[in-house]
Amino acid sequence: MTYSFGKWLQRRRKAEDLTQKQLAERAFCSLNTIKKIETDQRRPSRQLAQSLGAALRLPPEQVEIFIECARGLRPVDHLAEAMARKGEGGMVALPHRLSPAPLPQPATPLLGREVEMASLTDLLAHSWLVTIIGPGGMGKTRLALAAAHQQQALGRNVVFVSLAELESAAHLATAVAQALGLEPGARLPAEAQILQFLPAQKLLLVLDNFEHLLDGAGLLLTIRQAAPGVMFLVTSREPLQLPGEQLYPLSGLACPLPDSGEEVDRFPAAQLFLQSARRLIPDLAIADPAPLLRLCQLTEGMPLALELAAGWTNTLTLSDIVAELEKSLDILRRSRPGHIGRHHSIRVVFDATWQLLPPAERKAFARLSVFRGGFTRETAAAVAHISLPHLSALTGRRWLALDYGNGRYHIHELLRQYG
Ligand SMILES: Nc1ncnc2c1ncn2[C@@H]1O[C@H](COP(=O)(O)OP(=O)(O)OP(=O)(O)O)[C@@H](O)[C@H]1O
Ligand SMILES: [Mg+2]
Repeated sequence: MTYSFGKWLQRRRKAEDLTQKQLAERAFCSLNTIKKIETDQRRPSRQLAQSLGAALRLPPEQVEIFIECARGLRPVDHLAEAMARKGEGGMVALPHRLSPAPLPQPATPLLGREVEMASLTDLLAHSWLVTIIGPGGMGKTRLALAAAHQQQALGRNVVFVSLAELESAAHLATAVAQALGLEPGARLPAEAQILQFLPAQKLLLVLDNFEHLLDGAGLLLTIRQAAPGVMFLVTSREPLQLPGEQLYPLSGLACPLPDSGEEVDRFPAAQLFLQSARRLIPDLAIADPAPLLRLCQLTEGMPLALELAAGWTNTLTLSDIVAELEKSLDILRRSRPGHIGRHHSIRVVFDATWQLLPPAERKAFARLSVFRGGFTRETAAAVAHISLPHLSALTGRRWLALDYGNGRYHIHELLRQYG
């Protein structure tokens, strides 16, 4: 049977259970354009034909034929009739059920973060994309993992994709496909497999450590267009800058205020230090709470800094650790030589984020880091000559945070020392 291209397109669309409006949305064109193409009043451009091919999930080897048929360069008979029926004619058979790997299990208990967990639950119910942002070592991965377990306990399908070791955004789709339990290969590339598999799924995709893959963030939007049942929880040192992205800036673990008189070891920041230190010295007792309080303040509860400080417990007293930290950040590194890795030292962590900053913002931050105890917008402009766009870029990247209560900007104490 011979079809016109418009008729073929209509049959294929219906076989995919798509309305004209849905096809228009997926192919990024107007409803009217689809109507005209289906009634053969108009031929799509090459670019639009390409988008239509992707929206209709054509197998890659058929896309070029499809484009040529669309442009009127070949008769439509060349498009396999069988392709018009769902699940046949070159569609690669994918599993219908999700079979992801189990969620990673953290090696130590989660401390604090009750408020953050409640906020994330709320945000995940309303946003297609929630990004936990904050400096390296702030506990983003740890919090995302806890939220992933919680969502799974609530009966949601959750897939966790660890991206920290991924070299470039070019491998992002493959990493996601593999985490979904798909086997990307020569027959169908990873992105096409994902876009074929996900539309039928309802799940939370947790993408951990996205900051070095920001070039590939468009894939999330593509998935979103094709698969509205997929939600994302992302951790990143920088925002993804996608439409509808809900940011969740993360600060350190709760610390006592300097003169509150509260028992320091009731606070998660102090508990993390003690828990880590007692893995080295099980019966470690803290007679004087003052140095522990000071350590909490100097690190502002940053979990990685607390763990690195605790690593020195069998070499230095807590007072000595604090005295070192008052002088320099260098004490915040693994105490054992030979340990390498992303979290080897606070300097290594900050250096990696520093590389992401454009030179003008680096200069601006270095000038601002002389202000102990924060500064106002006026001081930034008058004393450090910082323009509003630079202020905005640095707050967007979480090198600074605006305190809405008093209108002052704050720099995390460790970042300030680094700057
Ligand atoms: N709430 C917490 N309770 C116990 N340990 C924590 C908590 N938050 C973080 N940690 C520990 O602190 C360290 C740093 O946390 P994490 O890896 O989550 O930081 P991150 O913000 O993801 O850093 P990066 O940007 O480098 O990926 C880890 O060893 C983690 O287990
Ligand atoms: Mg992380």
